[in-house]
Order: sequence, then structure tokens, then C-alpha cells
Amino acid sequence: MNKVLMLKSSILGEHSQSSVLLDDLAMLFKDKGAAITTRDLALDPVPVLDGELANGLRGGDNLSLRQLDALALSDKLVAELQHNDTIVLAAPMYNFMIPTQLKAWIDFIARAGVTFTYTDKGPQGLLIGKKAVIVASSGGMHKDAGSNHVVPYLTTVLAFIGITDVEVIYAEGLNMGADIAASAMTNAKQALKAISL
Ligand SMILES: Cc1cc2nc3c(=O)[nH]c(=O)nc-3n(C[C@H](O)[C@H](O)[C@H](O)COP(=O)(O)O)c2cc1C
Repeated sequence: MNKVLMLKSSILGEHSQSSVLLDDLAMLFKDKGAAITTRDLALDPVPVLDGELANGLRGGDNLSLRQLDALALSDKLVAELQHNDTIVLAAPMYNFMIPTQLKAWIDFIARAGVTFTYTDKGPQGLLIGKKAVIVASSGGMHKDAGSNHVVPYLTTVLAFIGITDVEVIYAEGLNMGADIAASAMTNAKQALKAISL
């Protein structure tokens, strides 16, 4: 059975468009027999990485309680990644970037010796054989523009940890009037149907 991890990160709660699309994709994947795990990074946020936590994530002795908690959470998030075959990332654009909540998750799963390693040929990702789907939602249009810092950033991070099989679904122009928004969502929902496990 294909196992799918859905990562929501919108701060807009019930108004979130990326969450609507992830729920749609979850239904499609369930119909194909997949087991779905959903993590909402806005409802259940990962702490912002600081110096104390970054040191804690390297492990070792004499860790503070705060560092031990962070290490336990990081281990849990990494295990979740390792366990699932397909990773779906909601990627709402806020101020031209991914949500802070998604960046915090990345800071907790990018771990040297765990999800990537450095070799004499450069960095090598350790999460092999997985697929990712990015659902990129934005108020404006950015897909082929220099203002798209969301998808290039996420594909770089995913490749860094070993995930190079990445499909991207865009829902753009969501703040450009009801007609453009409706057709963006219809097109995105249609595109989701073509995604294989
Ligand atoms: C704080 C904030 C910042 C935003 N910044 C941008 C932006 O830089 N570019 C853009 O095109 N849309 C921007 N938007 C619009 C969102 O991308 C849009 O509402 C989209 O639906 C977000 O996905 P979501 O509904 O899943 O949260 C912003 C929205 C918010 C709330």
C-alpha cells in the first residue's frame, strides 16, 4: 500500500485554498487505496530554529530539556518522512516565500547524517525512492517569474534530501477576482486527477 504524508501549512484556516486542494488529493489517493497521514503545520507548529535548538538537533550529551524536546520532535518528523512513499506539500505564497511554519518543518527535518550527508562529491540526499507533490497557491501569478521563490526553493530542498521525483500543481491568481480564482481552482483540481502514486 502506498503511504502518503500530506503537509498543510496555510495560516488561513477554513479559508485556505491549498488545504482544499490537499483534501481533494487525499480523497483521490484514498480511492486508489493509499494510507494518508495529514500534518497541519499551522495548527501544530514546529518551533522556530534558534542556536540552542540547532545544537540540540546534533545530539550529544548534556542537552537541555528544550533541546531534548526538539530532538524528539525532529526524530518524529524524520521518521514520518522516512515511513511515507509520497510527500505532498501545500505551498501557499506569503510575501513571496513559503509560510514560516513550513520553513520551521524543513529546519527540523534537514539533518546531517540523517536526511542528507556530505561526500567528497558534495551533498547527497538520504531519502531515496520517494515522490513529492507541491501544491503552490498564490494570490498573484508567479509561475515563470523571478518572484517565484516558492517552487524553486522547495525543489532545491527536496533534492538536497534525496527527493528528485517532484510534481508541481499551481493554483495562481487566487486574489485576482472571483472568475480567475474559480478557474484556477478548477484547473488545479483537474491537474490533481492526473497525479499517480
Ligand atoms: C500574509 C500573506 C501574504 C501574502 N503574500 C502574497 C505574495 O507575496 N504573493 C502572492 O501572490 N500572494 C500572496 N498572498 C496571497 C496568498 O498567496 C493566497 O491567499 C493563497 O490563497 C494562499 O494559500 P492558502 O489559501 O492555502 O493560504 C498572501 C497572503 C497572505 C495572507
